[in-house]
Amino acid sequence: MQIHETAFVVSTYRSHHEDISKDTYAKLWNNPATDAIIPDIFERVSKYEAILHSLRNRFFYERMNTFFKKNNGGTLINFGSGFSMYQFSFGDHVATIEIDKKDIIDYKKDKIDHWTKEGKLPFRNITYSAIDFNKNTPTEIIASLRPLIQKEPTFILLEGVLFFLDRKTTNTLFEVFKKLQEPGDLVGVVTYLPEVENTQVYKRLLHYFDSHNDTNDSFMHQTIPEAYFRNIDGYKVIENTDEFELSTIYAPEHGIKDKTTILNETIFLLERI
Ligand SMILES: C[S@@+](CC[C@H](N)C(=O)[O-])C[C@H]1O[C@@H](n2cnc3c(N)ncnc32)[C@H](O)[C@@H]1O
Repeated sequence: MQIHETAFVVSTYRSHHEDISKDTYAKLWNNPATDAIIPDIFERVSKYEAILHSLRNRFFYERMNTFFKKNNGGTLINFGSGFSMYQFSFGDHVATIEIDKKDIIDYKKDKIDHWTKEGKLPFRNITYSAIDFNKNTPTEIIASLRPLIQKEPTFILLEGVLFFLDRKTTNTLFEVFKKLQEPGDLVGVVTYLPEVENTQVYKRLLHYFDSHNDTNDSFMHQTIPEAYFRNIDGYKVIENTDEFELSTIYAPEHGIKDKTTILNETIFLLERI
């Protein structure tokens, strides 16, 4: 599976559970090729994947909504934004900077512009930046993003991306965040903890990626310990949860009983200090 396909898959997951994800625009990205992949993932990896990704979206939707309401707007800076659609669920007082690899950014901008003209999406202040986190230096990334930040405070989102990066690139990104943000600004981040590596479901995920990597689109399988996030220079953890906990709040009817049988991702909300 190519990395850009994972963005389509995640977006389609959100459209399966709009009541949980609160993303009523995700379905615009649905397409037959992605619909054909998903039943195989449910069978070979886990049938809970769509619910879990919707829960993760819901958490960030709630936290960003509160943050931007409290501050009467600001800028969402979405690193590895894929096809996420948060900006259309917030008011037009929120500006958004979408950052991803060039093929995703070009495709997304084209589609969003088109759907906005057609009236399928409300107009929003969105800027797009094509950056490969593995190739661009921190100085280059900061130089291209700083002029795009027109409205403070900022909420940086790094959702569903760390798994695909190595630790060096991860460190680079947090260096960039620290330089771009002011005290009180927030970062929302999702990761697998190393504990997850011992679960059968995570082993099935790796096996799925290995057996479907027919394109040589290589990527890491990164897990990161909690201590990493507690020791990031310039930040403090203000909230820590995981998808299992979120399921008890937003999806109790799905009866997820055991966090070791699902692909449980951990979420940190960090505040710039
Ligand atoms: C699973 S998708 C998640 C997309 C979105 N954040 C979401 O949760 O719906 C992973 C995204 O990370 C992006 N990504 C992965 N490696 C990247 C890199 N080195 N530079 C920029 N973007 C990258 C991919 O292109 C893809 O859009």
